[in-house]
Amino acid sequence: MTITTNPQTSLTPTTRAAISGLGTARGHKVVTNHDLTLTLDTSDEWIIERSGIRERRIGGSCLELSTEAARKALTQAQVQPQELDLIICATCTPDQVFPAVSNRLQNELEANCGAFDLNAACSGFTYGVTVAEAQIAAGMERILVVGVDTLSRFTDWNDRSTAVLFGDGAGAIVLERTHNTQKGILSTFLGSEGRFADLLTCDFGGYIQMEGKEVFRQAVRVMVSASQQVLAAAGLTPQDVDVVVPHQANMRIIESAMKRLSIPLQKASTVLETTGNTSSSSIPLALDAAVSKGLIQDNSLVLMVGFGAGMSVAAALVRWGQ
Ligand code: COA
Repeated sequence: MTITTNPQTSLTPTTRAAISGLGTARGHKVVTNHDLTLTLDTSDEWIIERSGIRERRIGGSCLELSTEAARKALTQAQVQPQELDLIICATCTPDQVFPAVSNRLQNELEANCGAFDLNAACSGFTYGVTVAEAQIAAGMERILVVGVDTLSRFTDWNDRSTAVLFGDGAGAIVLERTHNTQKGILSTFLGSEGRFADLLTCDFGGYIQMEGKEVFRQAVRVMVSASQQVLAAAGLTPQDVDVVVPHQANMRIIESAMKRLSIPLQKASTVLETTGNTSSSSIPLALDAAVSKGLIQDNSLVLMVGFGAGMSVAAALVRWGQ
């Protein structure tokens, strides 16, 4: 039976949920730091030094980006859309208030299953993975989890304190039931610290508002704590981790968290240099990069950890392979 405590450990003694396919998509247009200096009082040096970002990709709707990522993930998993039992789309920037992005995605893919969107801001993808794992424990076989966000539509391009940070993208995985209990999701953790909700907000019709310094401070703290909790739940330690796939918000946040976890920085997969902060899609984008570079291989222990507005936080520990 599913264990419902938090952090949550494995499914049943005989079943786990494993990732069988992964696909990504990036915003259509490259915007470099230099491009931003043409309209903002900023510099390439400042942006790189304070965030680690050199360029970001913007453009494309959530539907376009999620469809591209989902098709790649399904192809890699060798799963037909009609074989899916559920589609979960994590997004805080849906194309419309309703219908959900996931309903249009279901139609686009010609899938025949339930579909819903989930908003946990930049932690959304990992929240989605956790919900999907629980559905597999409840009897489903194959679930598509997508993280997609188009924050460029909610960015004030005249505000240098936020405009330099964000980008658009999507990432998707197929999660499948496996009877190889050595592989798949080992443990998950979900957290919410609503007392910090006002640190990072976006009202209807408005733009992203952020208290950057405090977000930074809290982000490091919750990332470390969530990571420690999923590791402890699986009976593992930071030294056991092969690859950390952190939310891609700021290189200095990742450096601080890795240092506090005593995990060498080289074990962190980063793509923010060329993507900026792509919210729900940042973890699958960094996961894809780690797989492509050969950092993640069969049996690698992968720690995904996300944080975001809310303040939300989520982590999942995965033994790679099926
Ligand atoms: N270019 C040049 N100068 C800038 C600037 C920019 N793009 N943005 C801000 N500044 C200025 C500030 O106005 C400030 O000037 P002042 O000292 O004259 O007041 C100075 O740079 C320092 O600003 P500060 O906010 O203290 O910088 P910082 O080192 O904290 O870096 C962030 C700012 C936003 C990069 C950093 O705080 C951060 O990344 N926070 C987390 C944000 C985040 O992750 N959000 C998403 C969560 S999912």
